[in-house]
Amino acid sequence: MNSSEAETSQRLVIPRPDDWHVHLRDGALLNLTVADTARRFARAIVMPNLDPPVVTTAQALQYRDRILQALPRGLQFEPLMTLYLTLGTSAAELGAAKSSGKIHGVKWYPAGATTNSAHGVHDIRQCTAALTAMEELGLPLLVHGEVTDPEVDVFDRERVFIERELAPLLERHPRLRVVLEHITTRQAVEFISQAPSRVAATITVHHLLLNRNALFVGGLRPHSYCLPVLKREEHRRALVQAAIGGNPKFFLGSDSAPHARRAKESACGCAGIYSAPAAIELYAEVFAAEGALDRLEGFASQHGADFYGLPRNSDRLVLQQTPWTVPLQIGDGDAAIVPLRAGAPVQWRLVPEPASAQASPGEAGA
Ligand code: DOR
Ligand code: ZN
Repeated sequence: MNSSEAETSQRLVIPRPDDWHVHLRDGALLNLTVADTARRFARAIVMPNLDPPVVTTAQALQYRDRILQALPRGLQFEPLMTLYLTLGTSAAELGAAKSSGKIHGVKWYPAGATTNSAHGVHDIRQCTAALTAMEELGLPLLVHGEVTDPEVDVFDRERVFIERELAPLLERHPRLRVVLEHITTRQAVEFISQAPSRVAATITVHHLLLNRNALFVGGLRPHSYCLPVLKREEHRRALVQAAIGGNPKFFLGSDSAPHARRAKESACGCAGIYSAPAAIELYAEVFAAEGALDRLEGFASQHGADFYGLPRNSDRLVLQQTPWTVPLQIGDGDAAIVPLRAGAPVQWRLVPEPASAQASPGEAGA
């Protein structure tokens, strides 16, 4: 970049954003995921779908320690932990979770709906005692909103979930705080917009950028496969309008979810898109394309904190409109991960630029 480009390229300064839905995984992968997320986000709601899942406060606190151990020196980052709802989740465990001050939600995976959901709950009415305790404690239920009924078309599973499961659940538990995660449909946008203020939704950057055509560009594209699956353009447009609309019920949750290249490029590929290496940059791209950069701050840095009753961040994140290219893959061999936008340009870049954004031969040359 020469100096005249630097002078003309636009800068965006926002309070440091938070990611209200992320998969950091565990073990060696934490070194990558925690660095990528913490370079951009001050805090993140960390999903508990490890194998085995995070079901107790003790497990969540140990997981939190492992995340903090993987945090690169010099970065400030607060992992906001969650528990995985099972038929065994007790009111006592939820009380301990709340009193720890480190656990901020309980995730309901309908059994069989997605990655590591086998321990999830099929019939949520069997969790009435736990949900009642959560109402009293003010602990939000974070929902993967898809029915698992094989008779229901995969593209309709969110819409049907809202009708069959979510609406009755909100009636049965009038004080329960709920986040419908990674919404993908116009119907979800409408439902959340009309719901009381105790109900909110996260929106991923891949659902803002892509419609279902991305799954089939010249062939089957496993790196665009996630759950809930990408939908029609009409739904993507509704999500964009919700994200840029300023309604505090909608906030940023990347659902960044790495899987090894080998597990995605498979006869039965895993669902998940690794967006963390360019997450806030890509959200900025979406908002800029709509002429709505002034709305990014609310969506990325304010609405989620307000919903969770946490203070807004006071430090700042600076983005500059200078294109860079996402590496084709991260890591080598079977364990390599193909990130969102791999090998293609992103319009916004972090300032100061993280070392990982400079394509090294090992990363980008493949
Ligand atoms: O695409 C997804 N990946 N959706 C989910 O619900 C889970 C996630 C994962 O953990 O891989
Ligand atoms: Zn997720």
